[in-house]
Amino acid sequence: MGHLFNRNVLLGVSGGIAAYKSAELVRQLRSLGANVRVVMTHGAREFITPLTLQALSGNPVHTELLDEEAEQGMGHIELARWADLLLIAPATADLIARLVAGRADDLLCAVALATAAPKLIAPAMNQQMWRDPATAANIATLEQRGLRRIGPAEGEQACGDIGPGRMAEPVDIAAAAADLFPRSLLAGKRVLITAGPTREALDPVRYLSNHSSGKMGYALAQAAAEAGAVTTLVSGPVALSVPEHVQRHSVESATQMLEKCLELLDECDIFIACAAVADYRPANAAGDKIKKGPDEITLQLVKNPDIVATVAGRENPPFTVGFAAETRNVVEYARGKLANKKLDMIVANDVSDRAIGFNSEQNEVTVIWPAGEEIIARASKLTLAGRIIELVARAEAASRNG
Ligand code: PMT
Repeated sequence: MGHLFNRNVLLGVSGGIAAYKSAELVRQLRSLGANVRVVMTHGAREFITPLTLQALSGNPVHTELLDEEAEQGMGHIELARWADLLLIAPATADLIARLVAGRADDLLCAVALATAAPKLIAPAMNQQMWRDPATAANIATLEQRGLRRIGPAEGEQACGDIGPGRMAEPVDIAAAAADLFPRSLLAGKRVLITAGPTREALDPVRYLSNHSSGKMGYALAQAAAEAGAVTTLVSGPVALSVPEHVQRHSVESATQMLEKCLELLDECDIFIACAAVADYRPANAAGDKIKKGPDEITLQLVKNPDIVATVAGRENPPFTVGFAAETRNVVEYARGKLANKKLDMIVANDVSDRAIGFNSEQNEVTVIWPAGEEIIARASKLTLAGRIIELVARAEAASRNG
C-alpha cells in the first residue's frame, strides 16, 4: 500500500444512503495519517449530519458555494488548491452526471472543476441505475479524463435489489486512496534535525548569537515529514511555527542543544545538523546584569562542544549530515569538515552572499558525500530541502546496504 501520511484529502460526500459510511471513511483516512476536510452536497446532509463529519475530521465541514463567511474562511478555490486528492464517496449517479457535464453550481462540483489534484470516486447507487447506459457512458467519460474509480461492489442493496451498486467498503476506499501516493522515501525512518541559532548568555539580559532564522532547518523538517519520516526538531530560539507532523524541542544554548540531541539520539536513524551553533560561549555568565564601567572590557570565551561531531563519533551513529556555513573556499572547507567530523554527508552553504544562507528565503548549496557531490541551484529553502532529503534518503539506504 502507498501512504497518506500528511496528505490533504478532500472528501466529497453526495446524497445517497451510503453517505452514512463516510463517517467510517473519514476515520480510516485519518488513521492512515491524512488531513481530511469534507465537502457535503445538500442531498448528503439528508443522510448524515455535518457535525458528525466535523467531529471525525477535526475540521469544519464545507457545504455552501455562495456563502460569504465560508468563502472568507476557506473558499472553493482554496479548498481546491489545498487538496492533494479529491475523493468522492459516495458518488451518486446524479453527481457523476454533473461531473461529466462540468457543472459548477454547487460547492462539490465547483471544487472538482477547480482542483488539479487527482480524483477518485466510489460510486454508489441502485443496481439498475448503475447498469443504465447513461451511467456507463458517464463513467467511461470520467475514466478517459483520468479520474480513478473504486467499486461499486455487488450485493444486497438498501432498496432490496441485488446487484452492482453498493459503495466499496471504507477500508478499501482508504487503501485505494493511499495507493495513489507511492510509499515515501523516508517512511519508517526517524529523523532528528537541529535548527536555528544558539544563544550563549553573557548575563541575565545579554547573549552572543548569530543571524540564523531557522528557516533552512524548519524547511528540512517539513520535507522530512512529507517524505514520511517521524521528524523531530531541536531548535534554538526562532520566530517560526512548527511544520505539521513535526515535534519540536526548544533550547537556547549549545550545551542544552547537545543534551537534548543526546537524549533523543537513540530513537534516530538520520541526524541533520543545520543549526548555527555558537563555537564559543562566555567562560562565566554573570549572575547579575553587567554594569557599564571601563571603556574596554575583555570577554573570556570557552569552546562549546561540537554537537554533530559528538553524534558522529558515537558507537553506532545515525546517518549524520552536517552543514558548513562558509564565506570563502566553501567546498574545500566543507570537505575538511566532512572528514574531520566523520560525517556521512555535508551541505556547503556560501553565506557570503546575503541572498542565500542566513535569514534568506532562498538558498543554493553543494551537497557533498564521500562518493560524490551535487550542486543544488538557487531555489526556495523548502524546494532545496526536498532535494537534500532525497539525497540523504538515497545515501542512507546505500550505507545500510553495504
Ligand atoms: O537558519 P537560516 O537563517 O535559514 O540559515 C541557514 C544556515 C545558514 C544557518 C544553514 O544553512 C547552515 O549553513 N547551517 C550551519 C551553520 C554552521 O554553524 O555552520 P559551521 O560551518 O559553523 O558548522 C559546521 C557544522 O557543525 C554544522 O552542521 C553545525 O550545525 C555543526 N556544529 C557547529 C558547532 C558546534 N559547536 N556544534 C555543531 O554541531
